[in-house]
Amino acid sequence: MVRASSQTLGSECSANERQALADLLRENTLSAAHLEIGTAAGGTLKELINCYPEPATRPDFYVIDPFTYYPDQFDKVVRNLRSAGIDPGTVTFWEGTTHTYLTTARRDGIRFDFVFIDGDHRHYPVMVDLQWADLVNPGGFICLHDRFEKFPGVGWAIDDVLSRNPEYELVTQVDTLAILKKTRPTTVPAVRYRDLIRAKLRQRLFKHARSIRKRVGRNRAA
Ligand SMILES: C[S@@+](CC[C@H](N)C(=O)[O-])C[C@H]1O[C@@H](n2cnc3c(N)ncnc32)[C@H](O)[C@@H]1O
Repeated sequence: MVRASSQTLGSECSANERQALADLLRENTLSAAHLEIGTAAGGTLKELINCYPEPATRPDFYVIDPFTYYPDQFDKVVRNLRSAGIDPGTVTFWEGTTHTYLTTARRDGIRFDFVFIDGDHRHYPVMVDLQWADLVNPGGFICLHDRFEKFPGVGWAIDDVLSRNPEYELVTQVDTLAILKKTRPTTVPAVRYRDLIRAKLRQRLFKHARSIRKRVGRNRAA
């Protein structure tokens, strides 16, 4: 399947979602680092960066992505940023997944005011990505894309984290974009080891149930 963003280099978010993200960055004073998990062609990334027109006062931007979404993905991101007047050298690209970078970021004391989670939408990877919440400053935001029926893992992980951590609240949802705010400091991790295990089990259960539903559907149709 050819993904449209590989050709257009545009955002995979809807116009409403992009507007909500831009409003969030413009209406809040977010000076600590910004992180996008899953960038595709960098279509949303360039819009987020350009919410801060003055490079000298722009927060640091980080991107995590395995860069295997389509051929030459990384080159496309670089080209896309340049075409929007952004020096790609000002963005830190972490090639891979959260697993590889979270420990280093913790060790280096990197703090974030904005995290946008839009990578692998299954239960376990979303829960893994929600571990970045610990590095978000109080007053900062965690946004998750694609919270709808097609990707039940996204909504499940959000609800699970919110139900256990009163320091985070769902501010709003725009189309499939959920915007969470960290309202106060935390003393325990938002995601514990046992939550990751539960997410893994839930993902397996979901996969199993879906394959049974498909088989039953096929048998009924036959
Ligand atoms: C839906 S696209 C992202 C769209 C992009 N945020 C936008 O708004 O245009 C998903 C991206 O996540 C990346 N990805 C897949 N699994 C990932 C993971 N575990 N961690 C980070 N990125 C991942 C893919 O390579 C792809 O670039």
